[in-house]
Amino acid sequence: MKATAERPESLLNLTGSTRYVDDIPTPASLLHAVPVGSTSARGHQLNVEIEAALAVDPSVRVLLARDVPGENQLGLVADDEPLLADGEWDFKAQVVALVLAKDRRTARKAAARVKVDGEDMPPVLDPRIAFTNGDLILKPMHQEAGDVEAAFRTARWIAEGRCESDGQEHVYLETQSAIAYPEEGGRMRVISSTQSPSGTQRAVARVLGVPVSQVEVEAGRLGGGFGGKEDQASPWAALAAVGARVTGLPVKLVLSRGDDMRMTGKRHPYSSDFKLAMDAAGHITGYQATYYQNSGAAADLSAAILSRTLFHSVGAYKVPAVKVDGYMCRTNLPPFTAYRGFGAPQGFFPMEAAIMKASELSGIPVHEIQARNLLTEGTVTHYGMPMNDCRAERTWDRLVDSCDYSNLKKEIAAFNKANRLKKRGVWIQPVCFGISFTKLMMNQGGALVHVYTDGSVSVATGGVEMGQGMNRKILVAAARTLGVPEDRVSVEKTRTSTVANTMPTAASTGADINGMAALIACKEIRDRLLAFAATLPDAGLQTAGLQATGGKTGDRLSLKDGLLLRDGQPTSLDWNGLVDKAHVARIDLSAHGFYATPDLVYDFRTQRGTPFAYHVYGAALVVMELDVVRATLKVERAHIIHDGGVSIDPLVDLGQIEGALAQGLGWSLLEELRFGADGSLLTDTLSTYKLPDLRFMDFPLKVEFLDNAENPKAILGSKAVGEPPFVYGIAAYFAAMEALKAARAGSGFYDLPLTAEKALDYLVGRR
Ligand code: MTE
Ligand code: HPA
Ligand code: MOS
Repeated sequence: MKATAERPESLLNLTGSTRYVDDIPTPASLLHAVPVGSTSARGHQLNVEIEAALAVDPSVRVLLARDVPGENQLGLVADDEPLLADGEWDFKAQVVALVLAKDRRTARKAAARVKVDGEDMPPVLDPRIAFTNGDLILKPMHQEAGDVEAAFRTARWIAEGRCESDGQEHVYLETQSAIAYPEEGGRMRVISSTQSPSGTQRAVARVLGVPVSQVEVEAGRLGGGFGGKEDQASPWAALAAVGARVTGLPVKLVLSRGDDMRMTGKRHPYSSDFKLAMDAAGHITGYQATYYQNSGAAADLSAAILSRTLFHSVGAYKVPAVKVDGYMCRTNLPPFTAYRGFGAPQGFFPMEAAIMKASELSGIPVHEIQARNLLTEGTVTHYGMPMNDCRAERTWDRLVDSCDYSNLKKEIAAFNKANRLKKRGVWIQPVCFGISFTKLMMNQGGALVHVYTDGSVSVATGGVEMGQGMNRKILVAAARTLGVPEDRVSVEKTRTSTVANTMPTAASTGADINGMAALIACKEIRDRLLAFAATLPDAGLQTAGLQATGGKTGDRLSLKDGLLLRDGQPTSLDWNGLVDKAHVARIDLSAHGFYATPDLVYDFRTQRGTPFAYHVYGAALVVMELDVVRATLKVERAHIIHDGGVSIDPLVDLGQIEGALAQGLGWSLLEELRFGADGSLLTDTLSTYKLPDLRFMDFPLKVEFLDNAENPKAILGSKAVGEPPFVYGIAAYFAAMEALKAARAGSGFYDLPLTAEKALDYLVGRR
């Protein structure tokens, strides 16, 4: 219980007392909204009949595209995301109408009676077909360095192949939710489960046709986002706001799990071709890949995601010649979106497949190829960034040592020899993950800190807490900077009127950016207080005759654990006393802080620069066990060495690593999105979409943090942690493939997730 006593917010989650949007008490006048989706994947001449729905209850209203008071559009890159479909539709379950009623049951009943039809058109679901048809959302992307043709001309081995990686449903605990309250004078207040309060605010203002200043968006602690609420929380808030504007009453919209699964975007499925050149000594000399990103029906965040794929196309390896191309292929599926890793896992997977293939061809053991080609200090990446403070080899070597890899290999070989019906395989996945938004502009954040007259401190930032522990890190940074005990500090909900023009909490930068903004604001208040303290007799500077030495006396004062110190020794004044005196002396006890990540430069024309503030490194070993008769796979054990910098809170970071690993394992082994030929999602329930559960995760997991790992590039020497450990899960795919190959000699296939069905196909020779 110690952990939760020190972290009261974990206790809220643990006891189920966190208040999600649907838990917020609401006024009796509240209307409930339920969206109605299109019934096919593509069509035009949309016709929506609402009479039967209206007959359900006098409270029922049905809103259509023509009822949107402002612009019926949310697309940011292109006008490709109407709030309500108007005439045509591009994916199944695209919202065509919004039903409002006095309670959710009535609204659902009425929604079921809305009749939707029109002229269906044949949908395109396959990204390679969309590519062949020339249906790309934006221009192709390309990154290149070195002479790839020469690398292939001179290669001893060329490993070539094709990779499929599936999408992934976020399954956040709290589905997409919002409440909109119409306020006086045409203002709108919205509570939204959004990772991007300012983005949601702009979307609401746009559909209402009002200035952004007339809309306030608030986000409390989310029941998970995982990227699914970076861009895609906005439509639901905007729909609620339109309902509230039209009726003049507060409107709540909480998606049912099924609607959430059918209507919202997920991780992008990719289909990719790879080709790797290797010399006789096992050095990788070139890599070429083409990524056909299944972008779905609208741009959403696809471009930023594809560019992160290209940046991470060679994983944690040093490759002198690289040529990678990416296509955003438009299909008639819900617009795919951000999901933990943001395109990077889709880049790591083909690279790792290429290494497996290169090992099969050359006979050089996989781990030798990997170890020989890890990034080293000073390596210049294919995007022109020198890897300073590179920790790829450090984390790898420590893992190989710590898990006694050579013995483990022998044990597994012996196990496989001794067992006919059980086979094991092992794989190490090295990780190098760039931290910063790939879009330069987005690397900024603000904070507002108030010290109250009783000495308690409130910190507000633009960051959103969604379970990742960002608030905890901000709290620690504020308490340390002000020199007060942690229990004096609280972190506020996120509100657009408190900190404006903020970026989504994403790209793992939440604590890096918002924590720094808070730290800067706290420093300003601390410096004011110390300068004031220097003038007080309690500080003892006058008696020592030092007041006259001019200006610098404040340097001898500091704040720690709620006490004012002089030369490190307590004075008679404590924090509360100092704050009280400062208030009486009319000193401002509030400050705004702003942080923009320094030293980022990137030229999109030449594809060269320093797009990341730093990289996170690590390596994960996974042992998989195959039941040869049942074709089932289970994780036997996992061992991770993670570069977390100097962790602000190791328990929070450990939780992030475990959670990200679970999702990475789910993506690699279990989670399968099945779309029917008509574009409908067949896996739209938690009984048909297989998630990692407690039984699946029940294996020995050892996580060790790299020591001496201080990171000068981020807050308090720490490193971002949210997304990089997702990539560790990929080790399970290849470890499982090794186990399969131990059962039946053959060459690996690269079609993720590696489900039991695919394993069976391999075992019986169908793959
Ligand atoms: N952890 C929890 N519990 N819930 C979440 O929604 N989102 C992940 C990660 N960890 C998420 C999470 C994603 S996709 C990102 S980008 C980061 O947290 C965002 O938070 P951070 O930047 O503060 O790490
Ligand atoms: N990561 C997450 N979200 C983003 C990014 C990114 O790199 N760029 C734009 N949105
Ligand atoms: Mo995370 S996918 O950047 O929200």
